[in-house]
Amino acid sequence: MKPQTKALIVVICVVVIGIGAYIISSDSQTATNIEPGTTSALPESQITTTPISLGEVAQHNKKDDCWTIISGNVYNITAYVPRHPGGDTILEACGTDSTILFTSRTSEDGEKIGSGTPHSSNAASQLQNYLLGPVEQ
Ligand code: HEM
Repeated sequence: MKPQTKALIVVICVVVIGIGAYIISSDSQTATNIEPGTTSALPESQITTTPISLGEVAQHNKKDDCWTIISGNVYNITAYVPRHPGGDTILEACGTDSTILFTSRTSEDGEKIGSGTPHSSNAASQLQNYLLGPVEQ
């Protein structure tokens, strides 16, 4: 085999390995940057623009089937319940309007739940992974 052919093969191998390494590293970067909860985002088939009634939300009031209303939207937070950093306090939200609980971490009577401060913007952005649709007014 001519030296030029050998050199060409080596160059092609280096380029192919380089492209492969770039693809693998950019994939793993996406995986580590992913927001917790994003992987279990609801299937599109569950997301609706049709308003969901309060009665429908009230039926999903259990640890293993938990919907909640926050600021006019309904969220299916079932998958998030076991990983909630605040533990089972999140169960108070199941089947009800938890806007005050979520936005101020206080009860309707103003009693502190945990720190008694609003959830972080990170919590608010994770919430969006569980959006089902608007609540019926
Ligand atoms: C609506 C009922 C909820 C209640 C009563 C509640 C309560 C709490 C409590 C007590 C903590 C521990 C930290 C502290 O004491 O301040 C906490 C932390 C946290 N919760 Fe909730 N939570 C609720 C819903 C949610 C939801 C729906 C999400 C997101 C999908 C969420 C995400 C988080 C996150 C990320 C933290 C860590 C601290 C932060 O980023 O604010 N929580 N929560």
